[in-house]
Amino acid sequence: MSAPLAGLRFSLAGPGKVGSSLARWATAAGAELVAVAGRGALENLDTGGQDLLLLALPDAALPAAAAALARRPQAAVALHTSGSLDASAIEALRQAGSAVGSLHPLKAFPEPLPEAAEAHGVFFAVDGDPAARELAARLAVAWGGVPGEVPPAARPLYHFAATLAAGGVVTLLAAAGEMGRRLGLPEAVARGYLELARGAMAAATRALDAGRPLATAITGPVARGDAATLRRQIAALQASAPDKLPLARALARETAHQREELGEDLAAVREELGGIEP
Ligand SMILES: NC(=O)c1ccc[n+]([C@@H]2O[C@H](COP(=O)([O-])OP(=O)(O)OC[C@H]3O[C@@H](n4cnc5c(N)ncnc54)[C@H](OP(=O)(O)O)[C@@H]3O)[C@@H](O)[C@H]2O)c1
Repeated sequence: MSAPLAGLRFSLAGPGKVGSSLARWATAAGAELVAVAGRGALENLDTGGQDLLLLALPDAALPAAAAALARRPQAAVALHTSGSLDASAIEALRQAGSAVGSLHPLKAFPEPLPEAAEAHGVFFAVDGDPAARELAARLAVAWGGVPGEVPPAARPLYHFAATLAAGGVVTLLAAAGEMGRRLGLPEAVARGYLELARGAMAAATRALDAGRPLATAITGPVARGDAATLRRQIAALQASAPDKLPLARALARETAHQREELGEDLAAVREELGGIEP
């Protein structure tokens, strides 16, 4: 059986963390990487006759880069990798004749991740012209990922939710570790909270795999309607970490909301939450 992207010829603008990774995944799936252009070399990049021009540049640089690239012949399809911007960020390339779109890997790249296995199971947000969406979905499937359309109007909140799911979780772990330090607890407790979170992620994964809502995997006093424990936690926060009360209140209310969506009655917890100072 031939490689899924055999015969596909492409070039990369922006060989940074995302660009170098996606290019390696593409070549591993049989595509041919024709040219790579970093900062300063975009002006001379000519991808005419190729199937794809992949732009993995900082969001703010995309419109000007597309305008510069549009002065030369470019590939049949141009895709950028931003999550917050839609295909119109590279409108200049559309005007010049390419079908334009976006292909956003819903994955954190703190560094290049060249191993093709890194793409397995990753969601790829796709939008743009039909030919661009089609090629974007083909790439995602070839990498073992899951393509899905995220239209322009949904982009800012889709991207915010991604930040919540990745950076937000780590921010919460950092806050948990900070509380442990303030209490003079052993340094190992920070790693302990991380291991706890890992277990919670595993439980959430099992819930989704079993077709249950994610919220069924939430643990803690609010989720189980334990108002007495919540009252003691709030008192401890008021005494020792009042700066964390707004965070605690917002999280508890969101937890209650998520469980109430499942039809649970959390009136006792709601009453307790009403007592937290804003
Ligand atoms: N990092 C993530 O976790 C992640 C995840 C999903 C999507 N994305 C998206 O993917 C895109 C690229 O992100 P990245 O993290 O790969 O960025 P990056 O590692 O900083 O790489 C950006 C690349 O663009 C080049 N570049 C920077 N400014 C430029 C300019 N003004 N004109 C032309 N080229 C320029 C850089 O060249 P130099 O090396 O010379 O600066 C580098 O090759 C962004 O749209 C980002 O939102 C990022």
